[in-house]
Amino acid sequence: MTTWRIRDFHPSDLDGILHLWTAMTDSGIEPVYSLSEVLASCQKDVAVVALHGEDVVGAAVGRAAHEQGWIVFLATLPEWRSRGIGTALLAALENRMAPLGLTKLSALMPDTETRLEAFLSRGFKDVQNLRFFERQIPVQRTELEPLAQLGGRVLPRDLWDRVAGMKREKQLLERRLVLPLARAELADEFGVVPPRAVVLFGPPGTGKTTFAKAIASRLEWPFVEVFPSRLAGDAEGLAGALRRTFTEIAELEHAVVFLDEVEEIASHRAGDPPSPNQGVTNELLKIIPAFREQSGRLLVCATNFIRALDSAFLRHGRFDYVIPIGLPDAEARRSMWERFIPEAVLPDVDVEALVERTEGFSPADIEFAARSASQRALEKAVYAVGAEGAAAADGASPAPAGALGRRGPTTEDYLEAIGETKTTVSEEVAAAFLEDIEELARA
Ligand SMILES: Nc1ncnc2c1ncn2[C@@H]1O[C@H](COP(=O)(O)OP(=O)(O)OP(=O)(O)O)[C@@H](O)[C@H]1O
Ligand SMILES: [Mg+2]
Repeated sequence: MTTWRIRDFHPSDLDGILHLWTAMTDSGIEPVYSLSEVLASCQKDVAVVALHGEDVVGAAVGRAAHEQGWIVFLATLPEWRSRGIGTALLAALENRMAPLGLTKLSALMPDTETRLEAFLSRGFKDVQNLRFFERQIPVQRTELEPLAQLGGRVLPRDLWDRVAGMKREKQLLERRLVLPLARAELADEFGVVPPRAVVLFGPPGTGKTTFAKAIASRLEWPFVEVFPSRLAGDAEGLAGALRRTFTEIAELEHAVVFLDEVEEIASHRAGDPPSPNQGVTNELLKIIPAFREQSGRLLVCATNFIRALDSAFLRHGRFDYVIPIGLPDAEARRSMWERFIPEAVLPDVDVEALVERTEGFSPADIEFAARSASQRALEKAVYAVGAEGAAAADGASPAPAGALGRRGPTTEDYLEAIGETKTTVSEEVAAAFLEDIEELARA
């Protein structure tokens, strides 16, 4: 006589499911679906239980994903095995899921799973040579809302790789910042205190913002930029708004917090009567130590005018590193050109000539020159075809796509565009930057 019966899951069965789960993991089986997934499916998807009296001795839980159903849990208490309960549970589950219009029912089981009879007897095929991939999503949904309120976001994963050249800077940031933060436990074993705040300084357009974002992307931490200019209009005043913003940031699990043009709010405190900015600088000086006490976050400040910063601001203890981001050397410029020149024309372009001609150019300048070369080449190709090299008159109709004589910019287009690009960083600024490195850099 059967001493067990099957019925639909009731919320009061949750304890029983938990018991099954524990029995399963105790016997060395590591289930594919997490307990919280299984419990969620019990309540929202389809679940059946096997009962002995009122005790849950087995359960099967399934969920539909469009036309494919997945069995997220199948378990029987050890003392109730080999009595056909598993097979009966699967049959009942399939029956309950039938109205969902499934065309396939699948199950993922760990390799250590030994109870295969239930599946085989229900006609499941044991598919070989499959691999199972999974990845933890770093930012949880519950965090997305506070993050959005702060104007923060999760950046694409490949920003770090998209930073062309700048090998020295990249290596420094990778080793000093990313390594101890991404592998906090290992760093701890070695007695490395993880960095909490850094300053990036350098002339305009050298990639400070780009690096700050790339670090966030590399760490897979959300990126939150704090804009003092936007906070200035706040009813609490800039100092109050900054304090509030950092309190909100403290609620996040992880974050790279970016404060650009920091010299605007942390410049030398001087003057009598004190300038209104002094209160803001003082506030920031208080905020940073508090920020440093929390793990899982990094403050990145950027400035073009490191000398303008208050000396107390840069003191040891506030910032772990003060890192120069300078103009790209030849190798970095080469990587940038190779990045910006369309692949199809790259073999025909004299990259070395461009590298040579762009000494003193910032990445932003190179990007600008590359874009204008592309634009001018596109215009030439579209409007000059048929005019046999002569510039087409205004209003000439564009050539049909198939008739274009050339594809993409040439070395000449690039050299012309370079000739017309005004570099942002003057020699004086570049020289002053080298002095700043001597005096203030700390890496
Ligand atoms: N290493 C790089 N590889 C490719 N593009 C880069 C690189 N560094 C910077 N750029 C590009 O150059 C432009 C300027 O970079 P970014 O805004 O990061 O400079 P910045 O140092 O923050 O400038 P500013 O001081 O004006 O704020 C951006 O469009 C960026 O995409
Ligand atoms: Mg910037």
